[in-house]
Amino acid sequence: MDNQSSTGTILVIGALGQIGSDLVHALRLRYGSDKVIAADIRPAPAHGSGPYLMLDALDREAQMEAVRQHKVHTIYNLAAILSAKGEQDPQMAWKINMESLMNSLETVRHTEAQRLFWPSSIAVFGPTSPKENTPQRTVMEPNTVYGISKQAGERWCEYYFEKYGVDVRSIRYPGLISYRGKPGGGTTDYAVDIFHHALRGEAYRCFLQVGTRLPMMYMPDAIKATISLMEAPGTLIKNRSSYNLSGMSFAPEEIYAEIKRLLPDFEMTYLPDFRQKIADSWPGSIDDSAAREDWGWQESYSLPEMVVDMLDQLKQNGAYLAPALEEKRSR
Ligand code: NAD
Ligand code: SER
Repeated sequence: MDNQSSTGTILVIGALGQIGSDLVHALRLRYGSDKVIAADIRPAPAHGSGPYLMLDALDREAQMEAVRQHKVHTIYNLAAILSAKGEQDPQMAWKINMESLMNSLETVRHTEAQRLFWPSSIAVFGPTSPKENTPQRTVMEPNTVYGISKQAGERWCEYYFEKYGVDVRSIRYPGLISYRGKPGGGTTDYAVDIFHHALRGEAYRCFLQVGTRLPMMYMPDAIKATISLMEAPGTLIKNRSSYNLSGMSFAPEEIYAEIKRLLPDFEMTYLPDFRQKIADSWPGSIDDSAAREDWGWQESYSLPEMVVDMLDQLKQNGAYLAPALEEKRSR
């Protein structure tokens, strides 16, 4: 476990979100519950299983103080406003996405913390990027505030590595699908919501149209990639902006067909909204050969395997949302 010190702790900011819920769980299994501090701007969850801090990622001093007080050696900063929510308040999205990253970069630069993970996204690509097998390095003209903030963030990560030696590592996640976390305002979130509707025996109205093929990944693969990137020796990390990462690509009708194979009564209709334009600006598939060559990335889940496991996990945990809860969340 290169540089994952046995003394000191890991700080996960934005820990209550979709990725954070799974990442904290996985990090605690791997390094011990007391070694992983979950932090978020929201109050502690009722059934937490380890140390928790209420922390605003926009408060640089608080971030530095947390690192000093808890002897943090590695920060994962997941706090952000996602693509669809970002378009509803671009100024807020820019502020949160950029300032929280700058605060973490400065924290690692000026404290004993040694390593930072910050997620980028396929949203760094735009309508002028190659649509299929989008390369690691290519034209990037994102047209959402979310994509612009991720692109700028990538430049800052590379800058801090080159100029100050900050060991920052990043992945351009595809749309992530998880049974543990709840969707947080993304364009790819239809591929999470669809499972909850299917299991409740309800029809699903998809906000993207037939044929909208996007890069996607099952959360266990995303967590595996994240930990593997963070544990890799620094000499293997040749890209200090962010790595393309690919698991699978599918359109709404393809995930629908897979679910329907297992739940034959499930029905889906299509009513595209403003998120269609966002999805249309993103790639259909991603070339992630750099991640495979540099630090040995290899996905585990195909679309059919992911659908079987999602349905099993949600059924086992009874975790599919009650309708009232979901309605509240989308307001
Ligand atoms: P999410 O919206 O589910 O979670 C974000 C978390 O950050 C929330 O718990 C929220 O309370 C917290 N947060 C917001 N503002 C904060 C602040 N000021 N201080 C502290 N915490 C704050 O998002 P997610 O899906 O878990 O995504 C996490 C990261 O991964 C983001 O950077 C996102 O851009 C990136 N990403 C996600 C996906 C995806 O499909 N989910 C894909 C690509 C990249
Ligand atoms: N899955 C994210 C979103 O839809 C992309 O980063 O916003």
